[in-house]
Amino acid sequence: MDKEAFFTLHRELPREGPGCPEDVLWAIGVAGTHGEARICDAGCGPGADTEALAEYLPEAWIDAVDLHGPFAEATSARCARFGPRVKAWQGSMADLAGPYDLIWCAGALYFLGVTEGLEAFRPMLTRAGRVAFSEPVLLGGAEPRAVQDFWAEYPAITDEAGIAARIAAAGYRPLDTRLVIGAPWEAYYAPMERRIAALRAEGVSDAVEAVLREGETEIAQWRTAPERIAYLLCVVEPE
Ligand SMILES: C[S@@+](CC[C@H](N)C(=O)[O-])C[C@H]1O[C@@H](n2cnc3c(N)ncnc32)[C@H](O)[C@@H]1O
Repeated sequence: MDKEAFFTLHRELPREGPGCPEDVLWAIGVAGTHGEARICDAGCGPGADTEALAEYLPEAWIDAVDLHGPFAEATSARCARFGPRVKAWQGSMADLAGPYDLIWCAGALYFLGVTEGLEAFRPMLTRAGRVAFSEPVLLGGAEPRAVQDFWAEYPAITDEAGIAARIAAAGYRPLDTRLVIGAPWEAYYAPMERRIAALRAEGVSDAVEAVLREGETEIAQWRTAPERIAYLLCVVEPE
């Protein structure tokens, strides 16, 4: 895929994957994160969850890291009002100094692999440190064609038991899980739909048009079976 064309669609979206502030609130409750905690938003995208973390935890110190520089810049701008307690930069989540009381990683751990990513995070955690991450999940039973097509580019997708096995293989135990389904996906796709329409109205190159069509196909597949397409949000700690 043409990277520049991809980011023409993806720049200026409020978030880069499904999620909502309530997920963040739930996870920090399960993790027991409070006060002047040190937190990392690993693979922060444009910073929607960084902002929620900073709002829910007004004394916390938050680092936000993304491989894609413009996302780190967007997160910095979005969180400027929190002052020095929120810092965002371009970098790899596999290579962080820490130590962190909580590593929040929404829709990004699969770039490293669940087991490999959790292993990489371990030395970056404080003694009581915890990780919250969301990961594509199969809900079980026969999957409609649209769901199979939706996940075609992520063949490593597994079900809840499969994710639990990957967590255990990294030497972590789960504290709690919940599904990210329905509204948090609308929060991702509705702004994308609006951006597709706005870009088309401006007129786009063939390369961008191809990206817009891919986006539309993905959204159409999701709309076919929104009750079958989910992430599992997991809060875990090292054993
Ligand atoms: C699906 S997006 C999710 C972004 C954000 N967490 C959200 O929910 O809006 C995944 C993000 O992970 C970033 N990413 C991928 N591999 C990474 C790595 N090794 N270190 C840091 N960020 C990474 C991508 O650039 C992308 O912004």
